[in-house]
Amino acid sequence: MGINIAIDGPAGAGKSTIAKMVSAQMGYIYVDTGALYRTVALYITENNISDDEIEKALENANVSLKFIDGAQRVFLGDRDVSDLIRTPEISMAASRTSAIPAVRAYLFETQQKIARENNVIMDGRDIGTVVLPNADVKIFLTASAEERANRRFRELSEKPDCPPYEEILEDIKKRDWQDMHRETAPLKQADDAVLVDTTKLNLQQSADEITRIIRERI
Ligand code: DC
Repeated sequence: MGINIAIDGPAGAGKSTIAKMVSAQMGYIYVDTGALYRTVALYITENNISDDEIEKALENANVSLKFIDGAQRVFLGDRDVSDLIRTPEISMAASRTSAIPAVRAYLFETQQKIARENNVIMDGRDIGTVVLPNADVKIFLTASAEERANRRFRELSEKPDCPPYEEILEDIKKRDWQDMHRETAPLKQADDAVLVDTTKLNLQQSADEITRIIRERI
């Protein structure tokens, strides 16, 4: 059994960037579980699969993770789709399809197996509550919706078809609502998770705070 650190929180709180920094520093594997849900969403979208066909169709989906030079890549069959899954359409589709119990059941064992075999920092929505309820450290990372939209806007503003700030904020609020109100494994803070609010922290300060919390506990 590896050492398991769970980081949950809403979209855009900085989970992946911060978890990457901390895991590199600690020599742990960083697992971005959102990428798994996005890959399932891509599979469902590309193959036009309706909700009641999903459970059966997933038997042939073949979603897997590989770690290449320490970086996570996600595969659909033998196709590396790590970049394809980063569009606003797939973000929205993943938020919707991740509410389907058959999708969550399909990805559950993949996530647990990686955590059993490695020291991991795993980020997602239900890692501390459902996937790794016995994680050694649990962190709930959040920031105000406005600050998260600001960060996303700054990130996207260098790209040609950057949506307006208001649209990004709306998307974030809509995904928050969907992620928190679904019936299966909704986004919520585990009772024993430490809350870290990064609204007023920069990346380095956030990473330092998380490293401090982890070191205090293991
Ligand atoms: O972290 P992300 O934005 O890449 O996640 C994409 C979607 O997947 C998000 O809307 C919620 C879902 N998700 C989930 O339900 N459970 C997880 N452990 C990770 C992501």
